[in-house]
Amino acid sequence: MSSSLCSSLSLSSPSINPKSPIRFRSKSMLSTIRCAVGEPLLLNAVRGEKVERPPVWLMRQAGRYMKSYQLICEKYPSFRERSENVDLVVEISLQPWKVFKPDGVILFSDILTPLPGMNIPFDIVKGKGPVIYNPLRTAEDVDQVTEFVPEESVPYVGEALTILREEVKNDAAVLGFVGAPFTLASYVVEGGSSKHFSKIKKLAFSDPKVLHALLQKFTTSMAKYIKYQADNGAQAVQIFDSWATELSPVDFEEFSLPYLKQIVDTVKATHPNLPLILYASGSGGLLERLSLTSVDVVSLDWTVDMAEGRKRLGADIAVQGNVDPGVLFGSKEFITNRILDTVRKAGNSKHILNLGHGIVVGTPEENVAHFFEVAKGIRY
Ligand code: CP3
Repeated sequence: MSSSLCSSLSLSSPSINPKSPIRFRSKSMLSTIRCAVGEPLLLNAVRGEKVERPPVWLMRQAGRYMKSYQLICEKYPSFRERSENVDLVVEISLQPWKVFKPDGVILFSDILTPLPGMNIPFDIVKGKGPVIYNPLRTAEDVDQVTEFVPEESVPYVGEALTILREEVKNDAAVLGFVGAPFTLASYVVEGGSSKHFSKIKKLAFSDPKVLHALLQKFTTSMAKYIKYQADNGAQAVQIFDSWATELSPVDFEEFSLPYLKQIVDTVKATHPNLPLILYASGSGGLLERLSLTSVDVVSLDWTVDMAEGRKRLGADIAVQGNVDPGVLFGSKEFITNRILDTVRKAGNSKHILNLGHGIVVGTPEENVAHFFEVAKGIRY
């Protein structure tokens, strides 16, 4: 940590409440600090145990902002190959781990990866994003969707998670993830990414039975997938309901909430200690409803102030987030101050520091390094 940075971290900095006992240590001292013996820091924090600082990782931390990932993309231009070959999955997942030592190492994969295992072919096309070749819109289409058997369809996911656990040991938590039923349905009904979500809303508001049948199939399959990931090494699993917030609250209560709750209940019945994290983009209007799912952690985007989000969610639930990914394009001093502001507002327990959505392509790697260095230097 440079001396100029150190001076910007002093408690007299105007952005820090002097009453908040946040302290910092230099990089050289950091090497001697380990998370609580035994379990990774992230798991201790989620369970509300006393931790010395918030654990930190970034959504989409493996990916295109890293030069090392771009080099792999040149050699292996197909996203499906990069995300379905065990060696590549492990190598890409570990790229940010090797450079930044985050407290969470997320599997390199995609929420759409299970789709072919449910008889829904897809690809991710450069410049276009996800493409579902035969969008599902009728009862007959939904009938064709088969139940996901992870060990048969995506054995590389289990193998990669197992290897990641061996590589990372308990120095970080290995994170798995799945797409939530509504968000998966939005891709397969729309045929890809969408701006207005008009096709899935047409289905929801004119033929809801068909959509419910699809959502139930995804629910059963994703609950199975979470258990599979946990059984093969994932120590916490994040559920991405990125587009559920396109629904008004009353529609969220019909088309997303019951399915999320069913996934959580099904997983907790056999894996009661597996932390589940829920993320929805733009969730400010839905926070109280997100906590009704009984997840352990709600991941906040940056449209809600951390202090207010914390208050609205209540003390029992842990929070993740909520730094605007755009902050990583700012000056180092701005990045530092925003981290400190977020950490102070989140309080000194049950907080995982993260961005409010995935890291953006073009983010300078040195700013990401700075983010981690500052975050890991914090002491409550
Ligand atoms: O966090 C991580 O590092 C794990 C990797 C990860 C990817 N996708 C890799 C990926 C995760 C967690 C996802 C989840 C995902 N995928 C979500 C939920 C998170 C969110 O952003 O809300 C969604 C909605 C998708 C669907 C999807 N896949 C989109 C919208 C895109 C981007 C399309 C584009 O070209 O910009 C993808 C492709 C994708 N998945 C990329 C990565 C790194 C970019 C393509 C590439 O690297 O070649």
